[in-house]
This record gives sequence, C-alpha cells and structure tokens, in this order.
Amino acid sequence: MTTTVTAPDFVRHQALINWVNDIAKLTKPANIEWCDGSEEENQRLLDLMIANGTMIKLNDEKHPNSYLAFSDPTDVARVEDRTFICSEKEIDAGATNNWVEPSQMRGTLNKLFDGCMAGRTMYVVPFSMGPLGSHIAHIGIEITDSPYVVVSMKKMARMGKAVYDVLGTDGEFVPCVHSVGAPLADGQKDVAWPCNDEKYIVHFPETREIWSYGSGYGGNALLGKKCLALRIASAMGREQGWLAEHMLILGVTNPEGKKHYIAAAFPSACGKTNFAMLIPPAGYEGWKVETVGDDIAWIKPSADGKLYAINPEAGFFGVAPGTNTKTNSNCMSTLTSDVIYTNVAVTDDGEVWWEGKTKETPANLTNWKREPHTGEERAAHANARFTVAAAQCPSIDPQWENPEGVPISAFIFGGRRADTVPLVSEAFDWVDGVYKAATMGSETTAAATGAQGVVRRDPFAMLPFAGYNMADYFTHWLEMGESVGAKAAAAGNQLPKMFKVNWFRRDAEGNFVWPGFGQNMRVLQWIIERVEGKANATSTPIGLVPTYEDINWTASDFSKEQFELVTSQNKEQWLAELNDHTKLFEKLGERMPTALKEHNAKLIADVQAS
Ligand code: GTP
Ligand code: SPV
Ligand code: MN
Repeated sequence: MTTTVTAPDFVRHQALINWVNDIAKLTKPANIEWCDGSEEENQRLLDLMIANGTMIKLNDEKHPNSYLAFSDPTDVARVEDRTFICSEKEIDAGATNNWVEPSQMRGTLNKLFDGCMAGRTMYVVPFSMGPLGSHIAHIGIEITDSPYVVVSMKKMARMGKAVYDVLGTDGEFVPCVHSVGAPLADGQKDVAWPCNDEKYIVHFPETREIWSYGSGYGGNALLGKKCLALRIASAMGREQGWLAEHMLILGVTNPEGKKHYIAAAFPSACGKTNFAMLIPPAGYEGWKVETVGDDIAWIKPSADGKLYAINPEAGFFGVAPGTNTKTNSNCMSTLTSDVIYTNVAVTDDGEVWWEGKTKETPANLTNWKREPHTGEERAAHANARFTVAAAQCPSIDPQWENPEGVPISAFIFGGRRADTVPLVSEAFDWVDGVYKAATMGSETTAAATGAQGVVRRDPFAMLPFAGYNMADYFTHWLEMGESVGAKAAAAGNQLPKMFKVNWFRRDAEGNFVWPGFGQNMRVLQWIIERVEGKANATSTPIGLVPTYEDINWTASDFSKEQFELVTSQNKEQWLAELNDHTKLFEKLGERMPTALKEHNAKLIADVQAS
C-alpha cells in the first residue's frame, strides 16, 4: 500500500492525516480503517476476532454481551525490560529507566515498523484521556494493527469520532503507533493472537511520541493507559506543574455526611482496584465509599492550594484472580455484562472462572492456554484481566466525570510487604511523606514479566511508569509541596496528609494476618479522622501510628495480638530497610534531592537511638 490515504469527512486535521499517511507508507498495511467508535464498528471487530479465533463469545445468559480473549502464552503482561524512555540526554531518563539515544532508537524502529502491518488492517483510533473537551484532558491517536486494541480502547478511553470535533483542524494530540509485529505474507493464514518475540515499548518524552512493537497485551498495547496517561503525562506534568500518578481515587463519606476524596498509590496488582471499590464492613452502617478511578490519577493544583484529581480513564483493566463476591462485590457487579476478559478460564457452558472466584473449581474447565484444566497448572493466568466500562460500577462516584476533578484530602502509599512495614503510619510532614513514597518497597507480581515475590524499590508505585529521571520526579513532588503548600497556607487550606499502608504482613506460616479488603475501612477511618484532627496517633521514629485503641473495631474479632503482628516495628529490620533506602538514593545519582538524603540519615539515627 503506497497510495495517499483518504481520510473521512469527520477528520479535518491535515497534520494528523499526513502523519497517518507517513505511518501507512512505513508499515504497509493492506487496509486502513478510521475508527469512529460506533457500536456497529465495535461489533464487527468482535465478530472478526471470533472468526479469527482470538476470542470466544461467552454464555449470553451468564455473561450478556461478553467475550474472552486468549493471548499468546508468551504475551501476558507488561515487559519492563523492553520499555524505553528515549530522552535526548541519558540523565533525563535517569537510573531507573532503560534509555537508548533517540536517533539510534528511531533507526531501530524504522527497520522494525517497515512493512510490519503487511496483510493486516491498520486502525486509526482517536481517544481522549479525561472527559472529552475538559481542560485537564489530553487527546491521543493510536494507530494499531490489533482489533483487540480497538475494542479495548473503546472501553478504556473516550474513543470515537467526537474526539476529532475537539481536535478541530490543528489541535494537539499524542501520536501513538502500535503494531503486533506480525506481517502476513500473501495468502498466509493468521494466528489467533499475533505478536513478536522481539518487543519494544518506546517513549520520546520531549516530542511526546509513543511507539510500541511486538505485544498485543494490556499496558504494552493500549497506549492511552501506561504509555500516555503515565509516562508521557508525567513528563508533561513536570513541565506544567501537575502530577500524573499510578493512583486510585475514592470518595469516603462518614455517617454525618462529610465526604473526603483520597488518592492512593499501590504497585501493580497490589490492591488499587479493590480499595477503590471497598464496601464498608458490618459495623460501618452509614459509611459510604465511592469510586472515581482504580489505576491512574491526574492531579492539578488550584489557586487556593487544593489538589484536584481526575481519573483520565473510562474503564477498568483489572486483575481477575482473587476477585469474588466477598472480596469485591462491587467489582463482581460491574462485571455483570459487556466485559472483555483476557486469559481467564472458561467452563464448557461458557462461564468464566479464575482462582479465587469460588471455593470449588468447576468441572470441565478450559484453562487460559485453551487446554483442559487438570489442576496441575493454573486455570487462569495470574495476570488475567477484565476490561469493562467504569460507568457500570455500582459504586461509581457522582463526580467521577467532573472535568474539574475532585479535591484530595490525603495520599496513601502502600506496598506488598511480608514484614517490616506496619499496617499504617502517618508522615510527619510533606517531606517525610515524599520520603515514604519514594522509598516504598514491594514484592513483584505477575503484572509484569520476570521474577515474582521479590522485594524491590518501587517509588510512588511509579518505577515502571515515570517518564523521566526518578530523582527529578522526587524533586517535582517536593516542589509541588512548597508551591501548593504556600498557596494553601495563604487561603487557609491544608496540603493533603500522607500515609503509608501495608495490607500484606504475613505470620510465621506465611499467611496474611490482616484480613484486608472491606476491613481496610478501619484504617481508612483512622486516616480521615487524622485529616480532620480527630483521631489519636503515637509518634515512633518512622511515623505516627495508631494504637489498638485508636482503631474502630466494631463487629470485628481482630485481636490485640494480631494487631501487634501487623504493626510491630523491629529495629534490625528497620535498619536494614533504611540501609536499602540509602542504596536506592545512591543509585538514583547526582540529581537526588538533598532533603531526602538528609531525611534518610536522620531516620537511621532516630531508629538507632530508639
Ligand atoms: P493493577 O491493575 O495491576 O495496577 O493492580 P491493582 O493495584 O488495581 O490491584 P488489584 O486491586 O487488582 O489487586 C491485585 C490482587 O491483590 C488481587 O488478587 C486482589 O485480590 C489482591 N488484594 C487486593 N486487596 C487486598 C487486600 O486488602 N488484602 C489481600 N490479602 N489481598 C488483596
Ligand atoms: C499494571 O500493570 O499496573 C496495570 C495493568 O494496571 S497494565 O495495563 O498492563 O499495565
Ligand atoms: Mn496499574
């Protein structure tokens, strides 16, 4: 295909058309389709994928209008070692990102993308991250040769023709190019989930471009999500004075009707979706938790020093395993219809299943590799996911699409730690809060390829998602604290308080001690009552903590001994922990802010003296 592309009438942006033309010349697809986001288009692509064997339609009574896609067994998660931040200077990507010199990377990409869409249809997918036309929103155009990406983007973003109206003839957009990297020779039969062993997830933060090659899965391929809304947006936010964060946003209302919004950063597969949809337990009558977002927050300061957050996404791409009516009933209700599942198991009756959905494993299961489930291997992949519109969530907050965002009262940071880190602690101040977030450690999960269950430093849960030097990112947070804090003080407002949580402490047998899920409400209550100046806290060297008596245990049998197991602070463990923070800061190099290094030294001295 070398002819000049013809755009439909609804596209009036010549630079965009020229760019699509250039990408078509490079990738040489058999066809070009300008997606309009219509139901007709969506159904046609779903039917196409059923015909191609990418997906099956599920039992229409149990799962109305829902589908199950099976990925290639090698293409099941984000590939962090194949993800690149190609800033002009290496130091601007920093010690935690993979970097290749931009012109060298462009050479590599030009070779990879040359003819990579042969025999396939190239889809042009317009999308807005954030409510269409909101001053906080940003537009992207994803070119992709994957129909799975098109139908997923329709659920995950505001996707369709209306985006072009906002874009007009010369509006700004982030160009995103995606290919599964599996060209088809003349007459060659396609496979069910085309992909390539060679993968590149590439960002040019200065020119705000995204190029993704070789994977069709999740964060590698739905480029509005981690690539645009976190990596590119974090670089924009640094320049423009706002924050793009790997955070859920929830609203919590107490029985008196007072409402607070909270934003919380937990690493991948560490509980954001579950916390965002929390149902208060027995004993919490009159309390309400509502969901604004489950994965990404864009946060902007107002003139009076408040921080307003929006969820830039329109859907949830959530972890299926472990989700059930007891742990997350709101999520299960969200999944009643119109879902695209990926890599879960299915009964011969067309009903989905995953580990943790029910106690009993159903008979006649087909596992995520499309083989009969024997019980020796997992039925669903550990990173099996659902894709569903956020509007279907019964706990969705009435303000979730407010283009101005919701005001944040507190930030929570939480990792997955078997020991050392207590259930909850409050930061002494903004710098201590930034320190707590910056030094967060967490056991790795199946959300990314590579070893699992290994503690690594995951600053702000952004290790895989910061689009620039992590040390500069810390500086940006510190500076936001100063500039927003000054505005807040002048207007009589206060900066959000910061907290660190850990739902994942284990006992000697390896079992989680804290019941988690709905029971996390008890910690959330303490947090908002600290914000309101109502709850008690005790000062320890590593933060302000509640005693057993400071937590509301109504209708709970969680004992003081168990509380001790999840809150105890061990001096040797903490010295080792703080030592690990020192190593992280050394690794982060010359741009590491002095305030955090000094704080590290102070904490070591304080713990030593304790
Ligand atoms: P990403 O979408 O990868 O960013 O993940 P997430 O942070 O939204 O994680 P999610 O809420 O999907 O949880 C991941 C896994 O942790 C699931 O298997 C949950 O069942 C489990 N989980 C969530 N909250 C808790 C909790 O409070 N306690 C325990 N023990 N497990 C939890
Ligand atoms: C994560 O890994 O943090 C996710 C899933 O939310 S993905 O979209 O694949 O990045
Ligand atoms: Mn995530």
